[in-house]
Amino acid sequence: MASTLPPQVNQKSNNGITPFTSVKTLSESPDFNSIPSSYTYTTNPHDENEIVADQDEVNDPIPVIDYSLLINGNHDQRTKTIHDIGKACEEWGFFILTNHSVSKSLMEKMVDQVFAFFNLKEEDKQVYADKEVTDDSIKYGTSFNVSGDKNLFWRDFIKIIVHPKFHSPDKPSGFRETSAEYSRKTWKLGRELLKGISESLGLEVNYIDKTMNLDSGLQMLAANLYPPCPQPDLAMGMPPHSDHGLLNLLIQNGVSGLQVLHNGKWINVSSTSNCFLVLVSDHLEIMSNGKYKSVVHRAAVSNGATRMSLATVIAPSLDTVVEPASELLDNESNPAAYVGMKHIDYMKLQRNNQLYGKSVLNKVKI
Ligand code: OGA
Ligand code: NI
Repeated sequence: MASTLPPQVNQKSNNGITPFTSVKTLSESPDFNSIPSSYTYTTNPHDENEIVADQDEVNDPIPVIDYSLLINGNHDQRTKTIHDIGKACEEWGFFILTNHSVSKSLMEKMVDQVFAFFNLKEEDKQVYADKEVTDDSIKYGTSFNVSGDKNLFWRDFIKIIVHPKFHSPDKPSGFRETSAEYSRKTWKLGRELLKGISESLGLEVNYIDKTMNLDSGLQMLAANLYPPCPQPDLAMGMPPHSDHGLLNLLIQNGVSGLQVLHNGKWINVSSTSNCFLVLVSDHLEIMSNGKYKSVVHRAAVSNGATRMSLATVIAPSLDTVVEPASELLDNESNPAAYVGMKHIDYMKLQRNNQLYGKSVLNKVKI
């Protein structure tokens, strides 16, 4: 049966693809049962013969870090936790954080508010559609970079800068209060984790905080909506990529879809409530001179329930030049493996290119 498709956005694109205003409206159009060909994800040759495994199928389990032991543990517990964090950053670039300081009710309230935002009338969200998040504060959109994407991704998003200056959409009501509290709590959590990470690298506890200028550091909430997709095997929510920034603290609405690449295998991360999924991001890889690896991850889609994820990016201030920590370098045994680049320039490079794997990071690799 032919379906009635919603209007397409009037946006100039370099690739001849005109996206729909949102995949949400597209997925809700009457009798919608097959995706437009522009949403067909053409697998990169590197992904051929890929292996996907469930989290509990692998004998090398995803590391779990108990945050309470980092903050309130005795000396031995703290030392062990710092060691475990370092090992997780080195071997996975990813870990699950439990017993953290953000309450379950605040996490649930935040997820509800993000849903309420995506459920606003399209015109209320479009207010934020033409902005660029590096200059403005709030950006609503679909896919990733609609003027550069080779194919479209099955994803709508809103990105909001909440530090050093706090921003919030005016609607839905209550969003501002909840996101302000959530931002404060996750910012503190991220900074505490980075203290442990500094120590795990053998650096002074406030090393990352100081050198990355976190007093004026960038914190961004990036919410993703993945509506049900009638042909989930043909589409992709987000392609394989690593994130800019130091850490990404991710939560989701109880629907799985995140896959992380570990030792050549894509691991399905199950959706466990009340924990943070912590992703090591590119700037931590750069400052640690490659000792810690940013994790390549992607978002698969399904034809079941709508999935929502909320990433909190903990990042250096936009004018910080991020380069390998000189304390970790040695001319002979460990020379600098990355050139320095200002965070804002790095972010623009990522925004303006196709998102694929570590393509941006590779540009600063020596
Ligand atoms: C991101 C991201 C994955 C997800 O926002 O950077 O990779 O699970 N999200 O939605
Ligand atoms: Ni990501």
